[in-house]
Amino acid sequence: MCGIFGYLGNKNSIKACLNGLKLLEYRGYDSAGIATIKNGSLINFKASGKLISLEKKINIKNLNLDLAIGHTRWATHGAANEKNAHPHLDEMKNVAIVHNGIIENYDILKKDLQSKGVKFRSETDSEVIAQLIFKNYKKNLLDATLKTLKEVKGSLAIVVIHKNHPHEIVAATRESPLAIGFDDKKNEFIISSDPNAFSGRNLNVIFLKNNEIAHIKKNDLIVINLRKQKVHKKFEKLNSKNLIFSKKGFEHFLLKEIFDQPLTIQKAYLGRAIEDKGQVEFEHLNFTKKFLSKIDNIIVTACGTSYHASLIAKAYFEDQANIRTSAEIASEMRFKNLLITKNTLVIAISQSGETADTMAALKAAKAKGAKTLSIVNVQNSTISRFTDESIFLKAGPERSVCSTKAFSSQITVLYLFAIYLARLRDMKKREAILFLKELKKIPLKIRKVLKISSLINEQAKKYAKFDSFFFLGRNLMYPTAMEAALKLKEISYLNANAYPAGEMKHGPLALISNKLPVIAFCSNEKTYDKMLSSLMEAKARGAPILAFATKNSYGIEDIADDVIWLEKTTDELAIFPSSVAAQLFAYYVAKIRKTDIDQPRNLAKSVTVE
Ligand code: G6P
Repeated sequence: MCGIFGYLGNKNSIKACLNGLKLLEYRGYDSAGIATIKNGSLINFKASGKLISLEKKINIKNLNLDLAIGHTRWATHGAANEKNAHPHLDEMKNVAIVHNGIIENYDILKKDLQSKGVKFRSETDSEVIAQLIFKNYKKNLLDATLKTLKEVKGSLAIVVIHKNHPHEIVAATRESPLAIGFDDKKNEFIISSDPNAFSGRNLNVIFLKNNEIAHIKKNDLIVINLRKQKVHKKFEKLNSKNLIFSKKGFEHFLLKEIFDQPLTIQKAYLGRAIEDKGQVEFEHLNFTKKFLSKIDNIIVTACGTSYHASLIAKAYFEDQANIRTSAEIASEMRFKNLLITKNTLVIAISQSGETADTMAALKAAKAKGAKTLSIVNVQNSTISRFTDESIFLKAGPERSVCSTKAFSSQITVLYLFAIYLARLRDMKKREAILFLKELKKIPLKIRKVLKISSLINEQAKKYAKFDSFFFLGRNLMYPTAMEAALKLKEISYLNANAYPAGEMKHGPLALISNKLPVIAFCSNEKTYDKMLSSLMEAKARGAPILAFATKNSYGIEDIADDVIWLEKTTDELAIFPSSVAAQLFAYYVAKIRKTDIDQPRNLAKSVTVE
């Protein structure tokens, strides 16, 4: 979690740091801070809340210095206040550090230091690192950091400065990503937890691996391991185009990203689907055809919205390709007895490619010898570099914490991948052509949903007064309902309980009253009649019902109080129009409720702690 940024070079370091932190703010916005060295003293600025509060505290003109480190925080240990904001300093204000990760033995280390009289300022686990580096310091910052790394347990990415070393930065990592970018002449060094912060720059980039330590001085960079041996690092040329951070006239990034979807789905589809041949191709997918055609077990793992895509993947792989598939919540998967054989494929789905739980699940799978594939949006991300193969979503940067366009691109890629696997088995060309043709029509169908956004807004006005909801669906409309409920929870802060409609009668029906509306997803023909019966049961007990249903469906108008009509497609693809309509519904409810739509409270876009 959190974003780390460090700068050493010939430009204004504070300005560089603030710009870098802006690009990382999606990783957490509970507080932010920057430290630098001026005239032999450490200067530290901190503010709780978003980066803008920090910016207001700093007068850049007075600080034309060539080194700075910064951090944007998502609270783990200690409240989300200024005291707990990074950078953290040692008691004597000699050392400043920024840290991502969790120090597992911080309690023991802290108590030990306190027993020796060391005073702590924060409730964080991170502060212990600064105090230890100070304790271990004997005129050599690298050695002091190295010694400290051997004392702390847990995951970390740290960047360290010391007041006696105004042209020196030490950075180290263990189980938490850290990249260093530099220009050809090594005039500037940028250290970041996320290459997103290198946006707009053409840089040479190295990614630190576990227990590697980078020692950066003016025009010089070396990397060593814990035994102090030099590590030869190959750099990659990152030709990072300026990320487009414009809302393009929309009031929020979320709304812009919802409206981006016809285009982003096309991007995920184009160049991969060869409709007239009924074939699918993925660029740079180097698994052998022999392996692909022998896969008899797929485990799909992910978190949050991406986990809901995994549930859809399970249905696609089982229905189209006849491959037994399980969808696993990543934070649970690593504790299970994973039944992996040489014919198992483990797929990780992640927008950011940085989610720690998903990484941990992947590591557990790899340790058991699984072949791994990632479906990610961010290129060069930790997960995409860790898996054997990757397929990219090409959805462009997703800025709003609540995921929308990445989700529909994930579904697109998963559907294509299911056809790809099915064609290696027994799916006929004719059948594949039909599947691909239907998928190709989806962007148009989503455009039609976007056109009725004002109608959805009207429904949102009616339902925003309720505090609690049931989201119901059956078959593929159940994961659709789960994802729709998550959207409402995330951005409206309302209680939304997703259930397979058939389960209502086995308990949850007891909650139904006229104060608890049902939001029903009815666009799967296979279960349509059963869905109507479940809704009748809810209606009989007074629940207000808003239904998302396919145009011309019979019966639903007589049961539901309100219906939002959607374009017809197949059961497999009905998730597209339904979830876009649900995204708009959640957006408008959140607007009425006046929440922080792009950066909802307590959340972060990329969760890099387990
Ligand atoms: C966070 C975000 C969610 C996201 C989840 C998984 O919790 O707030 O929107 O779905 O992480 O993220 P990933 O980047 O792995 O898809």
